[in-house]
Amino acid sequence: MDKIPLGVIEEIKERNDIVELAGRYTTLKRRGSTYTGLCPFHSEKTPSFTVYPSNGSFYCFGCGVGGDMISFVMRAENLTYPEALSALAERAGVNLSAYSRDGDEERYVSRKRIFEMNRDAARFYRDRLFDEREGAAAREYLTSRGLSQEVIKRFGLGYAPGGSRLFSHLRSLGYKSEEMTAGFLCREYGEGGNKTIRDLFFNRVMFPIINTSGNVIAFGGRVMNNEGSPKYLNSSDTPAFKKSSNLYALNFAKDSSADSLILCEGYMDVIALHASGISNAVATLGTALTQEQARIIAKYTKRVIINYDSDEAGQRAASRAIGLLEDVGLDVRVLKLKGAKDPDEYIKKFGVDSFRDALDESSTKFSYVASKIMSEYDMESESDRISAAKRMNEYIAGVSSSVEREIYIHQASELTGISEESIKSDISLIIKKKAASKKKSDREKLILDSSGYGDRINRDKLKTLRAASCEEALLGIMLAFPEYIRSAAEGADGAPTRKDFRTEFGGRVFEKLVEVYKENGFFDLSALTPDFSLDEMSRLTKLMQGRDGLDNSESVFADMTAALRRENERVSAKNMDAIDAIMRLRRKNTGDDPKHTEG
Ligand code: UTP
Ligand code: MN
Repeated sequence: MDKIPLGVIEEIKERNDIVELAGRYTTLKRRGSTYTGLCPFHSEKTPSFTVYPSNGSFYCFGCGVGGDMISFVMRAENLTYPEALSALAERAGVNLSAYSRDGDEERYVSRKRIFEMNRDAARFYRDRLFDEREGAAAREYLTSRGLSQEVIKRFGLGYAPGGSRLFSHLRSLGYKSEEMTAGFLCREYGEGGNKTIRDLFFNRVMFPIINTSGNVIAFGGRVMNNEGSPKYLNSSDTPAFKKSSNLYALNFAKDSSADSLILCEGYMDVIALHASGISNAVATLGTALTQEQARIIAKYTKRVIINYDSDEAGQRAASRAIGLLEDVGLDVRVLKLKGAKDPDEYIKKFGVDSFRDALDESSTKFSYVASKIMSEYDMESESDRISAAKRMNEYIAGVSSSVEREIYIHQASELTGISEESIKSDISLIIKKKAASKKKSDREKLILDSSGYGDRINRDKLKTLRAASCEEALLGIMLAFPEYIRSAAEGADGAPTRKDFRTEFGGRVFEKLVEVYKENGFFDLSALTPDFSLDEMSRLTKLMQGRDGLDNSESVFADMTAALRRENERVSAKNMDAIDAIMRLRRKNTGDDPKHTEG
């Protein structure tokens, strides 16, 4: 097998479900956003095997085994990496034969062909839109929706005249009818001898859907002035497109510097936001949010703001989306706009500044939790208010950011009428209790880890224990939050560089992380599986999970880098001292300058 692009591996992983996969070897129970069960790799009585759907990994706190979906299959089925990957690809219906020299090229080419054909179709639609006569009505429609020429071009919008115009064009470029129907661009009509083939999109403005690798994977087409139905016609799934695992405008939003993604319902909403300089908006493709899409979102950000239509249907869809997004560990907020149906309309009516204000005030998950708790109690009764406050406090204590806790404490106090002071002291008590029990279990784990002989994975660890721990903490942050890999790859301030890593293992991991990021523009744990042993993968997963849920602010990352550098300096100063001492000793013994005694 030749090298398989990370995007293809991603697709294979997205089409498989690690919970379902691991669930074949052990019974898993859901616990918040993770699943736990008895470890299939060692015998135990209480479950310490954990599956993390958010990043598709697993880790056993009992035996320390962990990794991604591929390493799971390697271990569980005792397979090599290529064997495990092939098995998963087969389950997912992904054809890997194109990547092996002896495979049949046919099917892979057709996927590539569809990308090429879609690009040609997008060009055709765009040219029709900009055709003086043909595109006049469509241009007028888009202008009436407030889109500038620049925005139209940025999003590659077009116009589909229909009939068999696209068909003839694509045929002239050498595409076969089967390719056009498979790619959902044309359709056969009629029976037997009366068969004709015509374009699927007819008199619509066209929205190309572009994936994060820049391929045109599908289209959405809107009727103009609400003539005809459906309002939007979207490509069905094709060999090159799966609706449930793509998001509109993610190709742009992934490069946004914002620390969140805004999830909208419609194409036009996303375009309106981007046009107003809010470039972190994405939308689903005409269906409700799926688990796959939630996982994709989690790969690019930690926080998502749901900004669906303000009508009842939109809000119902929002509350369904909250669950899915939380399941993958995202910080979820909801922005419900007042005075407009959707973000597009809101910005037109009230301007982008007003939208930004609303965005800043978007309610946190806490408001949802709090209102849910309150609905279960009689808030007129004092004892009920106390019980409700207790439950809110439990929730707040689990929030890792102290700034956020501060805000929620204030809100909880307002909602329950209990003073901030007593809420605060209640919460710090809960936190202390949690920390104590965590410390105990951490200590137990540490004893387990260091039992026997040193560190088999990071062999240099004992030589420079403190520096190596800093290295591992940094790698853990990078693995858990890949935006820090980007910082390192871009040489950002406060990010470590290759030379900061002195252990062989740490250096090798750091190098690989940066390399994967530079090559693909994103990171996924599975990019490491072919290059690291199963035991090394276990260690990496441990480092990654170790950071999960901890404070991961930029300052922690920068502080840890600084600590590593200080530690390295201290160690080299110590080494210098040692060298000095040796030199002095030698001078004393030879009575000569050391330089002249060489050779
Ligand atoms: P909306 O009707 O809210 O879309 O549907 P919108 O983007 O705000 O459209 P405008 O402002 O009327 O132009 C939300 C999304 O649902 C899908 C589309 O993806 C749309 O963007 N949809 C809607 C369909 O797939 N088919 C339809 O017939 C309608
Ligand atoms: Mn709209």
